[in-house]
Amino acid sequence: MNNDGQAISVENLVKRYGQVNAVDQVSFRVGKGEIFGFLGPNGAGKTTTVRMLTGIIRADQGNASIMGCKAGSLGAKQITGVVPEMANAYNDLSGWGNLMLMAELYGVSSRKAKEKGEKLLQELGLFERKDDQVQGYSKGMKQRLILCMSLISDPQVLFLDEPTSGLDVQSARLIHDLLRSLNAKGKTIFLTTHDMDEANQLCNRVAIISQGTLVAIDAPEKLKMATSGLHSVEVSFDEMAEYESLVKLPGVSTVKKIGDKYKLYTSDPGKLVNTLANYSSSSSHKIISLNTLSPSLEDAFVALVGKETR
Ligand SMILES: Nc1ncnc2c1ncn2[C@@H]1O[C@H](COP(=O)(O)OP(=O)(O)O)[C@@H](O)[C@H]1O
Ligand SMILES: [Mg+2]
Repeated sequence: MNNDGQAISVENLVKRYGQVNAVDQVSFRVGKGEIFGFLGPNGAGKTTTVRMLTGIIRADQGNASIMGCKAGSLGAKQITGVVPEMANAYNDLSGWGNLMLMAELYGVSSRKAKEKGEKLLQELGLFERKDDQVQGYSKGMKQRLILCMSLISDPQVLFLDEPTSGLDVQSARLIHDLLRSLNAKGKTIFLTTHDMDEANQLCNRVAIISQGTLVAIDAPEKLKMATSGLHSVEVSFDEMAEYESLVKLPGVSTVKKIGDKYKLYTSDPGKLVNTLANYSSSSSHKIISLNTLSPSLEDAFVALVGKETR
């Protein structure tokens, strides 16, 4: 395997649990300095992949390496930080205590650990609470602490398994901001998520995994372009128009009702806007709002995976 310039190389990785192919012949590469998104619905194989890449479990087949070191080796672990799916900090220690314990495990000198720890806690809005026991932390605070812990050894490659899932907006934003600034400093970030917006906002490239298999891998904008038939026009009327009459309009492929609006999918949004204007004047339905939308990553995802994630 030629690993020049690659932070993560994965070739034909397989993990089976009984009859289930949790991860099935997965191959991809992540360049140094990328934020790489690993996107898929529940049960797709994201966590299993992260566990193999971080050496928690062994692959049944295939190869994986981190910065040229075999995944799971001591060399790989020393340059890797992990925020696992299930966060684990000691509840009866303070935030600071947890952080210093992690530093010790990684052999970080106490001077460096103190300096780095203070900076990280400040960046993630935890500094004021650093001496409080973790059991009094909110879920978002705990997750931010886990992120600090994963960074105390200054890893080159960071793995995060659904780091913002179920978190408050403020915590998610702090985490996103930190990931962007880490990336600007050249760190490679591997992020699993089932959140399209998160992938869209953060990632240079996205792999979409479904039932253990990669179904697409590309830049978010390119994935959207691949589903160019999925332009849409979002329209709302002063009184609710009938679904049946909208489906019948020329050029409309699908209609979805979203709250008080309709989303009409089409390959020619410009033409559909005219059609809708004619429809409005020939019926009693006055248009209140009208937006043409390009395909979203969610549209691309649904087209590729064939189901909604949320
Ligand atoms: N330890 C395990 N034992 C048995 N089955 C597992 C185990 N871990 C994962 N699986 C199965 O493997 C598949 C992928 O799971 P997972 O990697 O956790 O998906 P994701 O993180 O994308 O939600 C699922 O069908 C899941 O039930
Ligand atoms: Mg998971």
